[in-house]
Amino acid sequence: MSIRASAKAARFTESVIREMTRLANLHGAVNLSQGFPDFPAPEEVKEAARRAISGDVNQYAITWGARSLREAIAAKFTRLYGVPVDPDREVTVTCGSTEAMIATLLAVLDPGDEVVVLEPFYENYGPDAVLSGARPRFVKMRAPDWAFDRDELRRAFSRKTRAIIVNTPNNPTGKVFTREELEFIAGLCRDHDALAITDEIYEHILYDGTAHIPMATLPGMAERTVTINGMSKTYSVTGWRVGWAIAPPVLTAAIRKVHDFLTVGAAAPLQEAGALALALPDEYYRTLAASYARRRDRLLPILQRAGFRTHVPRGAYYVMTEIDALGWDDDVAFARHLVEDVGVAVVPGSSFYHDAADGRRQVRFAFCKKEATLDEAERRLARLKPR
Ligand SMILES: Cc1ncc(COP(=O)(O)O)c(C=O)c1O
Repeated sequence: MSIRASAKAARFTESVIREMTRLANLHGAVNLSQGFPDFPAPEEVKEAARRAISGDVNQYAITWGARSLREAIAAKFTRLYGVPVDPDREVTVTCGSTEAMIATLLAVLDPGDEVVVLEPFYENYGPDAVLSGARPRFVKMRAPDWAFDRDELRRAFSRKTRAIIVNTPNNPTGKVFTREELEFIAGLCRDHDALAITDEIYEHILYDGTAHIPMATLPGMAERTVTINGMSKTYSVTGWRVGWAIAPPVLTAAIRKVHDFLTVGAAAPLQEAGALALALPDEYYRTLAASYARRRDRLLPILQRAGFRTHVPRGAYYVMTEIDALGWDDDVAFARHLVEDVGVAVVPGSSFYHDAADGRRQVRFAFCKKEATLDEAERRLARLKPR
């Protein structure tokens, strides 16, 4: 007998982002690595969860999601974006948007299929593609505005292309895709009979008057788009693990089957709280975006004074930075120095690229943190000396 891991599992490493949180805890560092808030979730959302548990909503929900939450998801999407969504046939509630993404890829991709991924990308998409047996085709977005080259993207589409993954607002770059960019991508999807799988988890975290445009709102796209979202970022409850996928009925049927056998379902009482959260008034989202704009504007000058070149995010809650002016050209060694000697944890840029060399001079800071946390990061980063 030879005991070994699968070839699939051998093709990717553990998450660098989650590893940085462990290192931050080990070294007592200010954790600006993983994207979770260190401030409380909204009181009314927490109270709804407590009520659901006390009211004995403690057994399995319907595998594809409690009716109340599916209805809230459909109603909110239609209210904000004008696209009708059938909660009975087009919504699947999952354990975080993380599960929505892997369940979707497992449901729509076959070995030999190709999936286009724009990079830098949220690190889960790489292993997700491997697990689904498909081949990722990476296409670069380039600073300063993280635009993609249209010819390059066109060339990445072929007869084998089944889908493209689009994350807007984007982690790690803070890019918010424009209507023109989305229309170009939509055109390629239509021409190649491919799906758009969009991760829209930062839909409400927007700055400088930018607007979030869901791919499913573009002409002819609702029928070939899987819109992935979740409670984690919008309601500051990353530990609840409640997400969802909105997709046309034929895809939803496949996603629901995969989801059922992966996890059976997301936490029932937290789904009830989700139904309440998704019905919060627009004011909640305006306040959320404004509070993140203040945090962004607090962190950017701290980083600039410390010697980082910064890319100003237009959405999401991260700042991508360049470390070359600090005399470093190895993101991993720099991140280690920062966490061990300076006491601030960040994510090495290479974890967002297929070819690690592309991220060698970048690190990502998360600013979903309390003012006091950012104050402490400022004190510590003031100690950072260029090499
Ligand atoms: C782009 C993106 N998608 C998905 C996730 C994970 O979301 P969830 O907590 O819903 O699984 C994150 C978390 O950082 C993210 O940045």
